[in-house]
Amino acid sequence: MVDPMSTDRPGQAACQQLRDYVEKTLEDRRRAPPDDFLSDFLRNADAAGELSPLEIISQIVQLIVGGTDTTRVAIVMQLALLLQHREQWDAVCRDPSLIPGAVAEAMRFEPSVASFIRVTTEDIEVGGAVLPARRVRHPSNRPTTAASRLRGRCPSLHR
Ligand code: HEM
Repeated sequence: MVDPMSTDRPGQAACQQLRDYVEKTLEDRRRAPPDDFLSDFLRNADAAGELSPLEIISQIVQLIVGGTDTTRVAIVMQLALLLQHREQWDAVCRDPSLIPGAVAEAMRFEPSVASFIRVTTEDIEVGGAVLPARRVRHPSNRPTTAASRLRGRCPSLHR
């Protein structure tokens, strides 16, 4: 496995701190496991015996990074989009039942993870189009129109 912390790059000290923090937290969980996610994860990982100690730490580091950067950006983008479209801000304030649609639409229109590269291993049909095998895909939901619609106009989510 590639050690994500081993490369020489800016922020390496911060990466090391995070890794040390996770390592110590996991050691604490091993000594006295409370009834929580980390204890469950450790129990199952140890029982399966498939992950090295470094891979176990790496899984939790990735969970922290994947779960915080994404949600932080999503919240900020939601606010920014609503403030750029004041009539939609007003509409959501007037009618809170619009909030779920607004959240889903903001995450679709300005996602915190803009794309996630995939390589097709075989021809795959998605929504009537065939993605040929062995091509790099950059999936994106971003519409071609400039209009931001926070009222839940995404057909796949709000039919
Ligand atoms: C707005 C919030 C979030 C966004 C936009 C987001 C986005 C993504 C994306 C695009 C992927 C890749 C999916 C794929 O393989 O096709 C992913 C995977 C993952 N995310 Fe998130 N995520 C968010 C929140 C979170 C949170 C809160 C956690 C955990 C606390 C989390 C943990 C994970 C994990 C563990 C994976 C890997 C799943 C796997 O490969 O089995 N994510 N996320």
